[in-house]
Amino acid sequence: MTRSESDRLATRDLAVVWHPCTQMHDHETLPMLPIARAEGAWLHGFDGRRWLDAVSSWWTCLLGHRHPRVVAALKDQLDRLDHVMLAGFTHEPAIELAEELVRIAPRGAGPSGAPRAASSVTSGNRDGAFVDHPGHAPFSLRQLPPLARGKRSEMSPQDGKDPHAPSPASGAHSFFPSPASGGRCPEGGRGPTAQPPESHDTAPLARVLYADNGSAAIEIALKLSFHYWRNLGLGARRRFIALTGGYHGETLGALSVTDVPLYRETYAPLLMQPIFAPSPDAYEAEPGESAADCARRRLRELRAILDRHAHECCAVIVEPLVQCAGGMRMHDASYLAGLRALCDEYDIHFIADEIAVGFGRTGTLFACEQAGVAPDFLCLSKGLTGGTLPLSAVLTTDRVYEAFYAEHAAGKAFLHSHSYTGNPIACRAALATLSVLRDEPVLARNRELGTHLDRALECFADHPHVGDVRRTGMIAAIELVADRRTRTHFPAHERRGLRVYRHGLDHGVLLRPLGNVVYFMPPFCITPEEIDTMVAVAADGIECAVRGQ
Ligand SMILES: Cc1ncc(COP(=O)(O)O)c(C=O)c1O
Repeated sequence: MTRSESDRLATRDLAVVWHPCTQMHDHETLPMLPIARAEGAWLHGFDGRRWLDAVSSWWTCLLGHRHPRVVAALKDQLDRLDHVMLAGFTHEPAIELAEELVRIAPRGAGPSGAPRAASSVTSGNRDGAFVDHPGHAPFSLRQLPPLARGKRSEMSPQDGKDPHAPSPASGAHSFFPSPASGGRCPEGGRGPTAQPPESHDTAPLARVLYADNGSAAIEIALKLSFHYWRNLGLGARRRFIALTGGYHGETLGALSVTDVPLYRETYAPLLMQPIFAPSPDAYEAEPGESAADCARRRLRELRAILDRHAHECCAVIVEPLVQCAGGMRMHDASYLAGLRALCDEYDIHFIADEIAVGFGRTGTLFACEQAGVAPDFLCLSKGLTGGTLPLSAVLTTDRVYEAFYAEHAAGKAFLHSHSYTGNPIACRAALATLSVLRDEPVLARNRELGTHLDRALECFADHPHVGDVRRTGMIAAIELVADRRTRTHFPAHERRGLRVYRHGLDHGVLLRPLGNVVYFMPPFCITPEEIDTMVAVAADGIECAVRGQ
């Protein structure tokens, strides 16, 4: 297909398609780019042009486009079962995926007093030993050490120790064989990192609900939490605590607990009113304050909020380690451990939204592992299917499940359904993605890529218009500022980030800055050479943008 045929497709598109997150008027000057095919880290146009997908197509494409194992699994599944409703019916992919998710879910400090799972389906590795599921090889034959037990405390990095070393808990339940380095926890990059605290091994995530996108998973978690308290006779608990700068999706419930003005402001009259607690965002730390100090201060503020409001609240919802859509703002893992402890103390749920950060993005399979904690609800989507099909999952505990389990007449059932809940093809894509993560040293390779990325990012170290360069795992961000010393932002209407986007497209890299934050969240198949290209194009784009070109 030629350039002009590609242009014709773009014209047809603009005549009928209303695109997401887009002021369509922008396309009077911004080209619409038809994509013909994709492979690995690359998107290919119809006209010979190609773009390096530095943002994994909205953070979905985990391993790379069209990973052969995922493609093969999809084709195979299509020959057998396309779809069946999940109420009253079930299928192998949904069952097997739920088993896998339960097995790999983060453990550590869970809600105190929760019953341990009795079901064989949920046996997993929670006692530090892998259990083989029927028809499925164990992830590792290594005998793993038992989980550490200790006081759950207001956490702080353990003095004098390597901040990148694993917690006993995260090492014990790691999804992957430990890397050659001797089982060290993946590093958090340049962003804040902390030594996870000692943790309890209680209340594993043992039950899985499916939906078909991230926002729907958030709706489920919010409704479940509210409904749990209601079933316990505590229906007055109907508020949520969310973090400033957090993003959890754009359906009305998810948007209610989102604090990104761009998405929230217009619809505010339609939304629930949560209580926003200050984010532990390390970029906003006070002068001289470390990321861990900042996290501690924010936990004290959260405690004050809980003192006043816990009795009317269902849950605290957070994006663990990286607040993505809010500008790739990163925080110290100790915040999550402190949050877990506070949620236990005030008897309130902890909802971990790992929709963007799950499946290795932050260096560990799940971000919560870096704090050695398990939430009451874990929301997953995006990378779950490797970026091929929409699917989401909410994991929760048996304690929650049991609060709903009663005679029909008791009216305690959880009512939430989507037509495509647990679609078999999407579940097969997820199983194939997890099998790649299990069988191949993906996270170990990511650690090397992360180090390479750090080196590439050094070119921004003294840049007069860069206020911060940060990285956690395979997520890196550059904060563009008008003045490095004062960190004054460029006015939003100048749309400097858009200039970087345009420059990227002209030079073969899909960058999609969040306002003035240029970030990288590439597929895990990216090579060091492609990282160099990605960063070099971003650097040139930033030069153009700050010069106003
Ligand atoms: C942390 C987080 N939660 C929820 C969502 C919503 O997911 P979806 O876009 O699939 O509705 C997103 C999407 O970017 C996200 O980043």
